[in-house]
Amino acid sequence: MSSAGSAAVPEHDEAHRGSFSSRRVFILAAVGSAVGLGNIWRFPYVAYENGGGTFILPYLVALLTAGLPFLLLDYALGHKYRGSAPLTFARMFRRSEGVGWWQVGICAVIAIYYAAVVAWALSYTFFSVNQSWGDDPEGFLFGEYLRAGDLGVSASLVPGVVIPLAVVWLVVLVIMALGVQKGIGATAVVFIPLLLVVFGFLVVRALFLPGAMTGLDALFSPNWSALTQTSVWAAAFGQIFFSLSVGFGIMITYSSYVAKKTDMTGSALVVGFSNSSFELLAGVGVFAVLGFLAQASAVRVDEVVTEGLGLAFVAFPAIINEAPAGALIGLLFFGSLLLAGLTSLVSVMEVVISAFRDKFELTRVRATLFVGVPAAVVSLLFFSTTSGVYVLDIVDYFINRFGILLAAVVSMLVVAWVARALPGLTRHMNLTGSIRLGRWWSVLVAVVIPVMLGFVLVREFLAVVQAPYGDYPSWMLWLFGWGVVIGVVVFAALASRIKWRPATSLTVGEEER
Ligand code: ALA
Repeated sequence: MSSAGSAAVPEHDEAHRGSFSSRRVFILAAVGSAVGLGNIWRFPYVAYENGGGTFILPYLVALLTAGLPFLLLDYALGHKYRGSAPLTFARMFRRSEGVGWWQVGICAVIAIYYAAVVAWALSYTFFSVNQSWGDDPEGFLFGEYLRAGDLGVSASLVPGVVIPLAVVWLVVLVIMALGVQKGIGATAVVFIPLLLVVFGFLVVRALFLPGAMTGLDALFSPNWSALTQTSVWAAAFGQIFFSLSVGFGIMITYSSYVAKKTDMTGSALVVGFSNSSFELLAGVGVFAVLGFLAQASAVRVDEVVTEGLGLAFVAFPAIINEAPAGALIGLLFFGSLLLAGLTSLVSVMEVVISAFRDKFELTRVRATLFVGVPAAVVSLLFFSTTSGVYVLDIVDYFINRFGILLAAVVSMLVVAWVARALPGLTRHMNLTGSIRLGRWWSVLVAVVIPVMLGFVLVREFLAVVQAPYGDYPSWMLWLFGWGVVIGVVVFAALASRIKWRPATSLTVGEEER
């Protein structure tokens, strides 16, 4: 079908791209994407640092005013235009294709470092059995396990990381090659209920540890003055976007695989609230065990709370050493991290694979090899070396702020003000949705969220200009921080110049304008 052809979606196109067999499978896959490393180790720490119990308020405001409306936007785009992120943007407004490629670039970057953390979780699941980290979990993590060397480029590979990372990539690529339903859908159907059982068990076990209530007190004690700090609001918005997987193409891609007559507004609420419930559950579980560690080491809870990496791979091993049935807690915790991380990693990679399939009309297996093998090689080269942990920290910091959040603001402005697509998207969602989208939604997407996120971004930018991130040499920040952020934009500009194949229809979705 030519780009000038009928606006209907060609049946072979739908069959060729793949689809989820039911709304239930789609919701499980979307929850699988949303619930990830961000929920289990990022949320508890961010909440604690930003006002404890008081953080729940900005968090809920961010969820209701930005997270859910943006999730609805991603669903509306993918479901109406039925394509990967670049194809969806191209169908909505030809010259906005680059925004889709920008999201693809961000996902490629996230995938290559996210895989490394999933690989560490895999190793630590095994280490939990006999507590391989010994009495000094921190020394073990950076010394024996990661062999973190001096700051700088180091070419030496760390075999202890290469093997689990290669295994993670192999598993992910097999899932991707199996397709939307047999790979992504089937994995979510098994992994997500399993994750709930495993994590639920961990939380119950944690609540019975001595000192658990002290941990919960620390997490939920309100600090009202936090509400007046802009950084707390910035943290809430950043957490919601990363955690819900919105703004970087994932939900656009997944919703393009959903049958046309599906209730997408109701699905967005189910996914959004499931993700936040899991996040709060993770907060309770993690702080209950931190309360135990604080009591066992006779220190205050704030002395045992560390940042993401330290929380998962240093504090938890210390807890496992102390707690009764510690090996079980370790298996449950690292097993949860592994399950949650794998289903999210699959969704991040699908954004890239789906975009290359659409653009070059590749079969799924070819696209998986074409995209997945280079991604795995780069991931292994950068993140299983002695400087991998530093590179990961820099890339993660920069791509979250000046990749995800910036692309989110630009995409909203393009949809609302350049393509003027919001009325059509509202009509589309209301055709089958159980909850009606009204003008309130357009106002949030076109004005309120871009203004709020724009404010957060300017603030973050000024902060990093005034005080460069971490103690890294400036060449590292330029190369792996700003360099990666700019590189992704250049990639997007170049990719959007490549012509679509003649068989690709760029008019799908236009019939509902
Ligand atoms: N949403 C995913 C997470 O929370 C990316 O880790």
